[in-house]
Amino acid sequence: MMLLSFTSLLISTCYGLVPDAYLPKRAPPDIPWFDWHRIQPSQALAYHDCYNGFQCARLTLPLDWHNSSNPNNISLAVIRLPATVPADDPSHGGSIIINPGGPGGPGTLYALGVARDLQRLLDGEKHYEIVSFDPRGVFMSTPSAYCFDNFVEAEIWWREKRAAGNLDSSEAALRYHWAMEEARGELCASTGSGAFGNGDNVRNHLSTAYVARDMLELVYKLEENKRGETGGERPLDVQQAMTAQGMPDHSAQLQYIGGSYGTFIGQTFAAMYPEHVGRMILDSNLDADNWVSLYEASVDDHEAIRDYFFKRCFAGGTKCALWRPEDRSPQDVRTRYDVVYASVKENPAVVSGQGHAKVVTSDELQWAFLMASYQPLRLFNVFAEMLNELYTGGHTALPFWQHVLPTGNTFYDEVLEYLIRGADVTTAIHCSDGPDLSGSGNLTGYQSYLANLTSGFPNAGALQAEFKLPCWSWPDNLRTKWRFDGPFNASVPILFVNNRLDTATPLKNAMKMAEQFEGSAVLVQDNVGHGALWPAGQCVWDWVKSYLDDGTLPPSGTVCGFPCEAFGGDCGDGLVTEALVRF
Ligand SMILES: *[C@@H]1O[C@H](CO)[C@@H](O)[C@H](O)[C@H]1NC(C)=O
Ligand SMILES: *[C@@H]1O[C@H](CO)[C@@H](O)[C@H](O)[C@H]1NC(C)=O
Ligand SMILES: *[C@@H]1O[C@H](CO)[C@@H](O)[C@H](O)[C@H]1NC(C)=O
Ligand SMILES: *[C@@H]1O[C@H](CO)[C@@H](O)[C@H](O)[C@H]1NC(C)=O
Ligand SMILES: *[C@@H]1O[C@H](CO)[C@@H](O)[C@H](O)[C@H]1NC(C)=O
Repeated sequence: MMLLSFTSLLISTCYGLVPDAYLPKRAPPDIPWFDWHRIQPSQALAYHDCYNGFQCARLTLPLDWHNSSNPNNISLAVIRLPATVPADDPSHGGSIIINPGGPGGPGTLYALGVARDLQRLLDGEKHYEIVSFDPRGVFMSTPSAYCFDNFVEAEIWWREKRAAGNLDSSEAALRYHWAMEEARGELCASTGSGAFGNGDNVRNHLSTAYVARDMLELVYKLEENKRGETGGERPLDVQQAMTAQGMPDHSAQLQYIGGSYGTFIGQTFAAMYPEHVGRMILDSNLDADNWVSLYEASVDDHEAIRDYFFKRCFAGGTKCALWRPEDRSPQDVRTRYDVVYASVKENPAVVSGQGHAKVVTSDELQWAFLMASYQPLRLFNVFAEMLNELYTGGHTALPFWQHVLPTGNTFYDEVLEYLIRGADVTTAIHCSDGPDLSGSGNLTGYQSYLANLTSGFPNAGALQAEFKLPCWSWPDNLRTKWRFDGPFNASVPILFVNNRLDTATPLKNAMKMAEQFEGSAVLVQDNVGHGALWPAGQCVWDWVKSYLDDGTLPPSGTVCGFPCEAFGGDCGDGLVTEALVRF
């Protein structure tokens, strides 16, 4: 269960004793490459051309925002797609910082994937610059907080864990997962990756509070650069955006679009630094209070989305492989699914072909259903094809698994890294944001947590519970030195956007958080899946644009229609989904 849809499949890596030396040396063939080593980290936001039309910078920031005598630094990898007009053009809309979620999603890759589309979709009266960054510990930011020596090893760890079965499948599976997490926790604590010479560890400084503070600094730097580029007075150094009294310069304002876990970064920033919020658009929202506690309000919509699958499959007729001409209601499709499920629960299905041999278990089916429900438009089709193959006793039910099957072309370090196949940094961040659970250090406490979630959500509760599991054995000495756990409220008008049904971040979260940030509005898109912006219909983009351009919010609760449905007709050309990185 992850807060970027597809990273749920993913695991991790490890870089870092001499941080820079461990930056990736090359990219997989179909992904553009830029050698970040060529940039010397600096306290100024100094851009270098990169990735064909983008600009990159490495920004030096303190490791520990609360101890000015701590000499250690981190460097943030920052990327921008400049606006189409010069900074001093009156129609320049300023910088919009974007974040894809995760935790652990690399903003640099995300920007490569969406910045051009986003810039085009928002273009009009104003022309925006798009900026993103890899949060501390992540990807091209140094030092890295990945724990495994390489991504292949991380991938194997994850696959072994999956093969043990879901947490609710048996006591043995639970104990296996538990031990695997302990093993990884120990590795994270002992690896040189992320460790500094004096004993500091980047993982002690990774919570979202740090990310918000880093982002504030980035906002100051962007303001500083803007003054430079527009011929205004250019402040001199780190303190540039502070007034003489050391008070923040309120003219430095964040413009931000965050999705999924990126909404928590936004909510945290807005609660900590409300005076620096210019515009904030939060898509597919976490409930911040829940996130900083046990993270239980999350898969609430999954049952409804399963129902939606059966309903749409029935309505789609021949477009859905699991449908049969004699079907009289969605229940007939569901019954077919139940047959498949019961059958593979009894005997895992054997599938092979195209060089692969594997089995499909009922636990994997639960995973697959959850994953498919993140992106119905894209995945319900292939999911239905796989179910149909299993139903008819076919042995080649591979389509759904294609993207996760190891092949000579995918199962090597660089590719796995770029696919962000797993990020221990996800664990480091969400365990840091939540309460210290490591003290409770025994299985009993976790079991009652698991039991509660599985009783609330029979089909997804155990998968949801897996997300929090590592926090029970997260090493004490990696515990964060700083976290922000609320209150998550302020008087700042945020535009909350959410799909009507969202597997990982239900609409109720957006409704709740909008109440806590006075003046905010919720824009509902009548669609199903994780994330309302990719793809969004024109109605959503129009509201996003008018809010960015002049602050106009829709009446809260406004519902935007969506032009198509899973197993339905053509979606038209207007919809843009993320291209490069699939979250
Ligand atoms: C601040 O950092 C210095 C240098 O690393 C260290 O000696 C000191 O203990 C730190 N102070 C606190 C309160 O952590
Ligand atoms: C951290 O950055 C500051 C500012 O650039 C620099 O003065 C300091 O030497 C750096 N610390 C280390 C350990 O390199
Ligand atoms: C295990 O944890 C639970 C809840 O955190 C606590 O009540 C119990 O005493 C612990 N058991 C042992 C043996 O430490
Ligand atoms: C049980 O889980 C629900 C979510 O399904 C949550 O709201 C509730 O607080 C949990 N109760 C306990 C006792 O953990
Ligand atoms: C936020 O909530 C806290 C605690 O409930 C309250 O004391 C404070 O006044 C609230 N602040 C705002 C800006 O609403």
